[in-house]
Parts: sequence; C-alpha cells; structure tokens
Amino acid sequence: MRVLVTGAQGKVGSFAAKAFDAAGHKVVGVDIASPAYGPQPAGILPYLRADLTDFGAAIGAVHAARPDVIVHAAGIPGPGHDPAAAVFANNTLATYNIAEAVLHTGVARVVYISSETAPGFVTAERPFIPDYLPVDEAHPRRPQDPYALSKSLGEDICDALVARSDATAVSIRPSYVWAPRDYAHVLSPLQEHPDRHFNYWSYVDVEDLADLIVLAATASTAGHEVVYAAQPDNYVGRPFATLVAEVLGDAAPPLRELDQEDCAGIRTAKARTLLGWAPQRSWRQRLAAD
Ligand SMILES: NC(=O)c1ccc[n+]([C@@H]2O[C@H](COP(=O)([O-])OP(=O)(O)OC[C@H]3O[C@@H](n4cnc5c(N)ncnc54)[C@H](O)[C@@H]3O)[C@@H](O)[C@H]2O)c1
Repeated sequence: MRVLVTGAQGKVGSFAAKAFDAAGHKVVGVDIASPAYGPQPAGILPYLRADLTDFGAAIGAVHAARPDVIVHAAGIPGPGHDPAAAVFANNTLATYNIAEAVLHTGVARVVYISSETAPGFVTAERPFIPDYLPVDEAHPRRPQDPYALSKSLGEDICDALVARSDATAVSIRPSYVWAPRDYAHVLSPLQEHPDRHFNYWSYVDVEDLADLIVLAATASTAGHEVVYAAQPDNYVGRPFATLVAEVLGDAAPPLRELDQEDCAGIRTAKARTLLGWAPQRSWRQRLAAD
C-alpha cells in the first residue's frame, strides 16, 4: 500500500511513518519543515515539503505521492503556543485541503488524527465536567477553544468527505501522546498532582498509537468511524473510581463500565473491537526501561 503521512517530521507522524515502513508499505512523508538536502543517510523515507494550508501545495503533494491512504497528522498540537486564530486557521484549513485533495484525486481512505480535546472538556476555557466517565465516542462534542474546535471540525470535514465521495475515513482521537523519551519528565509532575484532572489521567504511547494508525489505514471499515486512543491504565497508578471520588467529590459524573480497576478516563473498547487494537506499552514499563 502507498501511504502519505502528513506531519511526518512531528511526533505522531514520524512514528506512524516508521510503523508503515516496518510493515512493508511504501511511505512518503509531507511536512512544512525543511527537508535535508544532499545525500540521504540510509533509512530516510521519501519526503515532500508543503504548507498544507496552501491548496496548491496540498494537492501537489498528493499528486506526487499517489497514495492509497493519507494519514493526516499535520497540525499545531495544542492551544498554548500560537495565537488562537493561527491554531484554528492552520489546523482547519490544512484538514479541509487534504479532504479536498482526496476528493479530486480519488484517494480511497483517510486516517485523520483528531484529538481527545474534540469533545471540549480537556482544554475548555470555561471548564466543564464530562457527562459520564470514562468517556467514549458517544459523548457529545462541545469544543470551546480554537484547538479543540479545529480538531472537532476536522471530524466534521471527514463526515462531509465520505458523504460527497467514495472515500472512507477513520478519525483517531489520541489522548496525551508520549514518546519513549517523554515519560521521564512528563510523568512525575502529573503523578504529584492528580488534582489536575484535565483528561482524567489518560495518556497514549506513541508506538501503540502508530500501531493503531496502521490498523486504521489497512482496515476496510465503511463511512467515517471515530475511535479514541489511550492506554488501558491511568498514569497515576491508582484505582480510577477512587481518583474520581477524591478529586471530583460531589461534582463527579456517573461512572460507566470500567475495563480494569486502574483504567483511565477514556474507554477504548471501540478501537479494540472495530480495528483489533491491542496496546502493549505502559508508563511502568517505559520508566523501568529508562
Ligand atoms: N501530541 C499530543 O499529545 C497530541 C494529542 C492528541 C492529538 N494530537 C494531534 O496529533 C497531530 C500531530 O501532533 P504531534 O504531537 O505529532 O505534533 P508535532 O508538532 O510534533 O507534529 C506536527 C507536525 O505537523 C507539521 N505541520 C503543522 N502545520 C502544518 C502545515 N500547515 N503544513 C504542513 N505541515 C504542518 C509540523 O511542522 C509538525 O512537524 C496533530 O494534529 C495533533 O493535533 C497530538
């Protein structure tokens, strides 16, 4: 299979590109970042530079790569470091242009990297508590900030794409994405402050996420499916029901089925049953290996 991975120089895109390559697929990466010119070291994957907010550049990259599937991971990955309008404009327009390029070139399938923020509560400017925990794909979307809004609109763009074309799509909503090198510095401040319950103690390992992206790209699901991606355990290492009771008290929403005692606030049963995802890594294993 030929795969075009957008955002290939970034965290999610680079691990996804490696996973496709390891599985024997032909991968082309695209990103706004500079290419390395001159002789390429062994193992470097084909790369195109394009600003995907420019429709000409987006469709040019898709024409050049002639992919069967596009994994769209390019985007500004949070609301905190750019002006709000820049986050909204970059993410929304890049996703629209990719969908438009898919429509005009007949690409069969898109895997859109959405976000756990799409339902709104993780990055809300006026905080609110989800209707229930752990959340699943049926939870309503109520995005407030420009980042969550851009990720939520990306899912709407996928809905529109499959309605007006023969393309199929899967939106993956990763939790907080950690690469192997991230664990040592990200984990301890979060473990010391479980009261910071922004995503209800969820995370996803970038290598397990890359496995899910390959599964989503190679599956034959129809229409547009949305799946969450999170590790089975919470990063605090304590029973979920206890954390919710201690941190949220009377404000705690109803608890739904818990897949394990130390689960996190995101349920990933759909990714497991629909796509056969079986995440392997955990923060304990990553810290022990460090
Ligand atoms: N990192 C997380 O915790 C997290 C969680 C949930 C969802 N996501 C989503 O995953 C995707 C990838 O995030 P990441 O963590 O790899 O971020 P990253 O910043 O490491 O990588 C994103 C890449 O996209 C590229 N890019 C941005 N705008 C572009 C444009 N207009 N044209 C071409 N390339 C562009 C950047 O140059 C960068 O290399 C994003 O869409 C983000 O919203 C990330």
